Amino acid sequence: MKSTLGTALGASLSGVSLASMAANAPTKIESEDINSRALLKDEYDLHFLAIGDWGRNGADHQIQVAKQMGKWATEHPNDFIISTGDNFYPSGVVSEHDPLWHYSFENVYTDFSLQWDWYPILGNHDYKSDPDAQVRYTAISRRWKMPSRYYSKTFKIKEKAEVLIAFIDTNPLIPEFHQNSEYGPHVAGQQPEKQLAWLNELLQTSDAKWKIVVGHHPIYTAGPRTNNYDTLAVRKVLQPLLEKHRIPLYLSGHEHSMQHLKVQEKHFHQFISGSGSEVTPVKKGVNYSRFEASTYGFMYFAINKEQLQVQCIDHEGKVIYSSIIPWNA
Ligand SMILES: [Fe+2]
Repeated sequence: MKSTLGTALGASLSGVSLASMAANAPTKIESEDINSRALLKDEYDLHFLAIGDWGRNGADHQIQVAKQMGKWATEHPNDFIISTGDNFYPSGVVSEHDPLWHYSFENVYTDFSLQWDWYPILGNHDYKSDPDAQVRYTAISRRWKMPSRYYSKTFKIKEKAEVLIAFIDTNPLIPEFHQNSEYGPHVAGQQPEKQLAWLNELLQTSDAKWKIVVGHHPIYTAGPRTNNYDTLAVRKVLQPLLEKHRIPLYLSGHEHSMQHLKVQEKHFHQFISGSGSEVTPVKKGVNYSRFEASTYGFMYFAINKEQLQVQCIDHEGKVIYSSIIPWNA
């Protein structure tokens, strides 16, 4: 028996060109509609977590903070993770195959939401062994992205605007480190003037709407190192550059606490996220401190063209501070 249905289908298809079928068909092959993370949208275009001073084989609340980071990044939009240095205690890693990569990093930040890009910088403890081993690990890891001891990344946000982040290495900027028996061998050969010239050129020539600098050592702190030689040395060379280019944000670690600092006559805000495991005390009543907490945790940044939001989240997942910085040329 002849199929009238088949005949009808054949007749209708024969009159349709492949080009017109393509034009009418959905064009997405791998649809974002089936990715639940795509539903996590808010008013911001770029989001990242920031954690510092963490690698302790999971000890001293490192595990608890890691779990909350995973929970937060699962429930909120997130694009990448910044590490503000002192990635491995007590003395960095000796090679890209050091077991600490497993015990202090891979086996701690295990949540699927934390398998996205990490942009780390080097802290002073990382300088007690081989800092370049952390650069070399980039070739082994899918998520660890440290192309060199200092580097920059540009991220697109809406309306063709960009966010520039300069990831710097503050260790060679401290003159005392060059004479120090532990740090000296690993800062040898580093040229601080060259890095500062690179940073100046980068900040000068970038058209990014937001320019952020990330370095391990704070420029100001309401922690134990308010007047330490490292704080003062970094302030001396970095503050003039930040002010010259009207940089809105400097993010650091080193102090094991969370802080938001703003010196009244300076343009830049400074955040310290350095309590990824151990905590150290903070001082109350420091006039340039807007927030200081001796609390384990991490920070969450969200940016759009108009403003930047920062939240501090503790090791139990509680938001303990939130602040909005409007864009201001
Ligand atoms: Fe440090």
